[in-house]
Amino acid sequence: MKKQYKIALLPGDGIGPEVIAESVALLDAIAAQSNFKFKYTEALAGGDGIDKAGDPMPPETLKICKSSDAVLLAAVGGPKWDDLTGAMRPESGLLKIRKELGVFANLRPVSVSPSFAESSPLRPAEVIGVDLLTVRELTGGIYFGKPVGNDGKEAFNTMRYTVGEIERVAKVAFEKARKRRNKVTSVDKANVLEVSRLWRDTVKRLHAEEYSDVELNHMYVDNAAMQMVIRPRQFDVILTENLFGDIISDVSATLGGSLGLLPSASIGGRVGLFEPVHGSAPDIAGQGKANPTAMILSTAMMLEELGELQAATAIRHGVSAAMGGNARTGDLWHEGYRRVSTSEMGKLIREETLNHLHPSDSK
Ligand code: IPM
Ligand code: MN
Repeated sequence: MKKQYKIALLPGDGIGPEVIAESVALLDAIAAQSNFKFKYTEALAGGDGIDKAGDPMPPETLKICKSSDAVLLAAVGGPKWDDLTGAMRPESGLLKIRKELGVFANLRPVSVSPSFAESSPLRPAEVIGVDLLTVRELTGGIYFGKPVGNDGKEAFNTMRYTVGEIERVAKVAFEKARKRRNKVTSVDKANVLEVSRLWRDTVKRLHAEEYSDVELNHMYVDNAAMQMVIRPRQFDVILTENLFGDIISDVSATLGGSLGLLPSASIGGRVGLFEPVHGSAPDIAGQGKANPTAMILSTAMMLEELGELQAATAIRHGVSAAMGGNARTGDLWHEGYRRVSTSEMGKLIREETLNHLHPSDSK
């Protein structure tokens, strides 16, 4: 009997449905040649949830997600729902599912291969070889801190962290670093913020007690944003709180030339949440122009967390091989390349992935 994984699919809005369809096609193609298979349950999220169930994260969706082995989420939001406020915004559905699943560590890896460096807004010589991982705290900080208020004359949010919240995400960063180049840069604003002073003290103490074999440095967030642009190769693992991580990871995404390449995994709870960093791109939705790569690489991160390392690696090789050719979706297309649609790109990646799935069997 094949092992079966229960996957919750949240296509959401805009380009979400088109890109998630490529992930499903890929998972099915992999399953056909593996000793495991997938059972999908689709659920409403974001604007789609608001339209069909009056809630950007309906209780039914949360129930489905919590009883799955992993959640694939594509994208939420769009102009149609921009005038809504508070809990009715598509974005608040995203915050809700992160909190409910307890996925406190958000992993956002970026690597830039030579064939992409030319798409980068930075000089290719500065970005070739970039290979960094942002570990962003995801269920605390100013995104969730109380009190919060707005009476029309004054508004406030609260940034707060407990030692426990800092420690658990720092552990994830140190553990990941041990499997990479063994370096953690902890990003904070300890020259100004009390929360950052606790952050820095906690990271230092944990490092001394349990991870002194890992190289650790600390950087203020303004400097980190600048360093990311002038010398991005210095970073291996970046550990930071929720809001700083939101900003820094978008900066890191530009290094490779397109947000359409950046995957993410949110882990720490029983069920992980896997989503591309890009949004719903309403301007190109439904036209087959979206790049499915970030969604597909998020799917590889899901397989890795599920323990299907061989399949995850095959997808990464598949993506590299597909990118090694001259097919490009619109976000990365330029003179000399062949412009392909979302599904053509998905198919190319699928074929290359299958070629890499069982390397030992190949003749
Ligand atoms: C992200 C997004 C979200 C965030 C928004 C849509 C709530 O920007 O995943 O980076 O700020 O976390
Ligand atoms: Mn963001």
